[in-house]
Amino acid sequence: MIENLSILLGVTGGVAAYKAVELASRLTAGGAKVTTVMTENACRLVGPKSFEAVTGSAVYTSLWNPSDTQFTICDLRPDKPPVKPGAKYLAPRFTRGSVHISLVDWAELVVVAPATANIIGKIANGICDDLLSTTLCACWAKPKLLAPAMNNNMWENPAVQRNVEILKEMGYELIGPVKGRLACGTEAIGRMAEPQDILQAIEKIASEFNRGERKERRE
Ligand SMILES: Cc1cc2nc3c(=O)[nH]c(=O)nc-3n(C[C@H](O)[C@H](O)[C@H](O)COP(=O)(O)O)c2cc1C
Repeated sequence: MIENLSILLGVTGGVAAYKAVELASRLTAGGAKVTTVMTENACRLVGPKSFEAVTGSAVYTSLWNPSDTQFTICDLRPDKPPVKPGAKYLAPRFTRGSVHISLVDWAELVVVAPATANIIGKIANGICDDLLSTTLCACWAKPKLLAPAMNNNMWENPAVQRNVEILKEMGYELIGPVKGRLACGTEAIGRMAEPQDILQAIEKIASEFNRGERKERRE
């Protein structure tokens, strides 16, 4: 169902970032092409190499860092080998110097897991101050799924709730957060939905592509 679907996976600086590795692995195992974009804070919690290892694709962390772009200068034609040795598929083509626009052109579906209070606020307010927020700003017309995760006090903050409502109005689909044990030890709402549940939500979106209910899917 998700076979060959080009999924841009955004990972932000929530403690649940390690679970996004399992999500990336499940998506890749299901045949999806997964490209990961991590925020600087996400990289403090889990290493980009983990995502690179499970997806077989380069991980993007910066609008500017040239090392991020070394794997992206490639040819999308199927007869051309991947630029990155061992890559399972071709990375997004690097167009005219801007990684974020190349990623937007490439992606059919955008997933952010975990989605921090910070990225939710940035998307809702059109703030573009790093690669992920800039890419998401340019991706607004694509199908998007967010898996928020944060401390319950943060989730219940009226500003966060207002931003969540704005995101829903903008067409973002949200899964979770769910009630459960949080990193701080409390049992409350704020836990990221489990990777298998996020996968199911993605499969549902993909099946809507296949039934023609969504137009964005490329073949
Ligand atoms: C150990 C640790 C865990 C954190 N977990 C979360 C979290 O689950 N959700 C959240 O919204 N912020 C969390 N934060 C705070 C964010 O990392 C912080 O707001 C940061 O600015 C988010 O940046 P980003 O959205 O660009 O990744 C955590 C911070 C630390 C130090």
